[in-house]
Amino acid sequence: MPRKLLLIEDDEAFSRRLQANLRSAGFGAEIAATGAEAMRLLHSEYFDLVVTDIRLPDLDGLAILRRIKEGAENLDPDLPVVVLTSVRDIETAVGAMRDGAADYITKESEKSEIVVRLEHVLEQSALLNENRYLRGQLERQDEFRDLVGESAAIREIKREISRLAGQDVPVLVTGETGVGKELVARALHRTGSHPGGPFVDVNCGALPDENLLLSDLFGHERGAFTGAVSLKRGKFEMAKGGTLFLDEIGEMPPGPQAKILKAIETLKINRLGGTQTIDVGCRLVFATHRTLEEEVRAGRFREDLYYRINLLPIHVPPLRERRDDVAVLARFFLGQFSAKYRNAPRGFDEESLVVLRAYNWPGNVRELRNVVERLAIRSSSETIRREDLERCGVSLEGRAPSPIALPEEGISLEEVERRLVVEALERSEWSQKRAAQILGISVDRMNARVRKYGLTHPSWRVHR
Ligand SMILES: Nc1ncnc2c1ncn2[C@@H]1O[C@H](COP(=O)(O)OP(=O)(O)OP(=O)(O)O)[C@@H](O)[C@H]1O
Ligand SMILES: [Mg+2]
Repeated sequence: MPRKLLLIEDDEAFSRRLQANLRSAGFGAEIAATGAEAMRLLHSEYFDLVVTDIRLPDLDGLAILRRIKEGAENLDPDLPVVVLTSVRDIETAVGAMRDGAADYITKESEKSEIVVRLEHVLEQSALLNENRYLRGQLERQDEFRDLVGESAAIREIKREISRLAGQDVPVLVTGETGVGKELVARALHRTGSHPGGPFVDVNCGALPDENLLLSDLFGHERGAFTGAVSLKRGKFEMAKGGTLFLDEIGEMPPGPQAKILKAIETLKINRLGGTQTIDVGCRLVFATHRTLEEEVRAGRFREDLYYRINLLPIHVPPLRERRDDVAVLARFFLGQFSAKYRNAPRGFDEESLVVLRAYNWPGNVRELRNVVERLAIRSSSETIRREDLERCGVSLEGRAPSPIALPEEGISLEEVERRLVVEALERSEWSQKRAAQILGISVDRMNARVRKYGLTHPSWRVHR
């Protein structure tokens, strides 16, 4: 993706030469000879960087710098500005740095040096963009790991990921809840063509309101709607030079589906209320726990979007269909948790491994990880035994095709439902969304049951 630069300079001979140099260095460079022309271009096109002379026939370069940094007239204050100056104007240039210029360059410099300096500024700005995002993501860092597993299925997935290495094609990752779709997405990012760029994720089902999701994805201009008090960059822009992970794409409402389709087709987006077109400069990875064919048949998912994103599907099978991975994963997680909990057991005995392997794992790898964590906290013995597992609800009973046995004395259906709701919640670390997925109901229906049975959990208070 060539980076686009606006060169504001009235000395035509100079600007033409610099433009030629920049172009051969792979930049797109447009020239504005006056302040007015520059402002017009800034409002109609998207730029990654502005380079401005200080003395211009009309507005001076410092005024343009200040307008951008104040976010006046809907300009983007994060847009980096580099000031061009002559050697005798160094003091003005230093003042410009105080006003928010990213750097200053003297016109007497070698053109090749100018290009290097501008590249550096762009790198800094990309880093800033990424850091802002990563700060919120720090706690998730321990999940940046590799895919563990030795089953044929996992080996095939790893092969597929390396076949796609260095490419930017969109990928759709499917599979039940907890199978490791996000991990696959991160692996695709690390082997993609911009492994150093940001990995930005969006949960397309998490926002209650279509417009919130749109502004999260595409950003908005100031005043685009009530409450849009300042310009906001969307996740597409944040992911520039990296990967945008659109998780739970099957939950996306129709409006955003249409916009995503347009973005994929044109490789361009607009901020809400914005007129400039912005290039989509990121790799797209989608994930869903749903069967999108079914969603298409039911009229909930656009068929054209489905074909667009389903070019390269990667399916992660449920854990019960790749039992070879269970022991490997269990040992891997135990190793991790014993670093965290001091008296954790060292390993599993033979019988417990048999039970682990035979169990159904409706919550897949996430459930296995949770069980191992509980064992690491609770068990005091050196090795984990079958009884330890049973205390965590993992037993051979879990293998029965129907998990519900009707007791001799009978049971009320309501009580059955309540127990299953509680069990699903426990299995999903009290995430109502995941519990709803396990039970195959909507979050709204889950929520209604939680209220009906008066269920509550300390972690819910934090989220509200
Ligand atoms: N192959 C694996 N190796 C190591 N850890 C794994 C593996 N698969 C899954 N995990 C771990 O299991 C947990 C769930 O994985 P992940 O979040 O990727 O699942 P998911 O498919 O995205 O689930 P959901 O549909 O609920 O979002 C995470 O803690 C992840 O690190
Ligand atoms: Mg996920």
